[in-house]
Amino acid sequence: MKVLVATEKPFAKIAVDGIRKEIEAAGYELVLLEKYTDKAQLLDAVKDANAIIIRSDIIDAEVLDAAKELKIVVRAGAGYDNVDLASATAHDVCVMNTPGQNSNAVAELALGMMVYAVRNFYNGTSGTELMGKKLGIHAYGNVGRNVARVAKGFGMEVYAYDAFCPKEVIEKDGVKALDSAAELYKTCQFVSLHIPATAETKNSINYALLKDMPKGAMLVNTARKEVINEAELIKLMEDRADFKYITDIMPAANAEFVEKFAGRYFSTPKKMGAQTAEANINAGIAAAQQIVGFLKDGCEKFRVNK
Ligand code: 3PG
Repeated sequence: MKVLVATEKPFAKIAVDGIRKEIEAAGYELVLLEKYTDKAQLLDAVKDANAIIIRSDIIDAEVLDAAKELKIVVRAGAGYDNVDLASATAHDVCVMNTPGQNSNAVAELALGMMVYAVRNFYNGTSGTELMGKKLGIHAYGNVGRNVARVAKGFGMEVYAYDAFCPKEVIEKDGVKALDSAAELYKTCQFVSLHIPATAETKNSINYALLKDMPKGAMLVNTARKEVINEAELIKLMEDRADFKYITDIMPAANAEFVEKFAGRYFSTPKKMGAQTAEANINAGIAAAQQIVGFLKDGCEKFRVNK
């Protein structure tokens, strides 16, 4: 059995070593395709792969057509919007993710970016503090929960809204659960996004939602760029000189944000929320173990294309 690790943005070496150990202990072969720059390289590498481990790498119908021996794809991470699930199901390929394995890394980055922004991007001028400020967590999944834990350590007042998580579950963590996204944005000066990119959420963070955020508002995005209505966010930031947008996923309109919103906008050059050795080890090794469990015992825990 051949297991391909196809990562345009590679894991830390220590994580690849751990993945190799799991795969070889099962009697399988590990093949690496890292930092590829062309889809043709991926199409060639998948030809004889029985299993693939990916990150944000795109697995579409063309890749699935080329992967004639493929049985399973594991997205080492949470969001699987980069995999064409319908096509995978049609090709009889199981798709899994590794929920929770990289959440702490993403949460730490969200708070790190907040500190960076309230301290005026470390330019030496007087900034503000997070203690006592209201933070709204939009979607209370694995990352949202970790953001709440770290934010409470900073002394922030933490609120959350999640359409699918019962309020009692949120409130058990000492977080105030609100009834709607509108209420969350109205209440909180800081909002941290943790919604997945789905048909329902794409473009959903729009002018109407953001316009009611309190003075000195800051939107922090470590989720997906697709959930932002970029044209409406630009309009809002033109109308509100106090509004900051801080993101780990560079918008399509990055050049316009840079030009228009100096001092109020920051994007990392490449998504790096999950770029820690710990997150790579956790998610990468979980992916390898899930592949072995699936190929040897038919275990389908964490399957997302049921
Ligand atoms: C995820 O969905 O797990 C995160 O967005 C991390 O993605 P990455 O593995 O591409 O860094």
